[in-house]
Amino acid sequence: PEDHRLAGRHVIVTSGPTHEPIDPVRYIANRSSGAQGTAIASALRDLGARVSFVTGPADVPPPTGVQVIRVQTARQMRDAVEAALPADAAVMAAAVADWQVVNAQDSKIKKDGSGLPPVLEFAENPDILAWLSRLEESRPGLVVGFAAETDDVIAHATAKRLRKGADWIVANDVSPETGIMGGSENAVTLISDDGAEEWPRMDKTDVARRLAERIADALTGPVLY
Ligand code: C5P
Repeated sequence: PEDHRLAGRHVIVTSGPTHEPIDPVRYIANRSSGAQGTAIASALRDLGARVSFVTGPADVPPPTGVQVIRVQTARQMRDAVEAALPADAAVMAAAVADWQVVNAQDSKIKKDGSGLPPVLEFAENPDILAWLSRLEESRPGLVVGFAAETDDVIAHATAKRLRKGADWIVANDVSPETGIMGGSENAVTLISDDGAEEWPRMDKTDVARRLAERIADALTGPVLY
């Protein structure tokens, strides 16, 4: 039926922040609420897709009617995405930490009385979007990434699309004055092979619905899964 255009399709959605441990009680994180990723997963489900929802520790509860895979770190998120393959499409809406702490401790770090703070050493995390976009055998037919930028949004997002190998980038301006990060609205530009298409400012749930419709439009091949 017209309202279940994604029936028989499998879509992987990543969402939320990742937490990168420093020791058993401390971590590095970011302010992602998980709102946009959660809304996208709900919208895809509403169109009949089977959704694997790979989420870091988010503020908002995950949608019902999707398979929820909870992770903490970027590496766990990558592994969960890999385990969820194959998929017709993937939407990488997570705010993945760029770095992990390589000298994370197994027990709580104590002040040692020297007055010297501990030194954290960082290593780059896997870029899940870039890795997924370049898979040879099991690359999803449509890979969608996000680009949260504060300046030159379209130029940076267009470069990001090419650098990471994604099909589409949903770009948005997260400058503090927009109120978008953590807010209920979003103003995005959809960047594809066809160029940049600016969408009006709307509720994150409406961005999600519109994106889900576009994904349904794009998936025209035979239903495989
Ligand atoms: O490079 P940047 O973090 O701006 O890229 C954002 C896009 O890349 C988002 O779609 C995000 O989910 C994805 N990403 C990822 N793994 C990372 C970093 C970003 O999947 N380690």
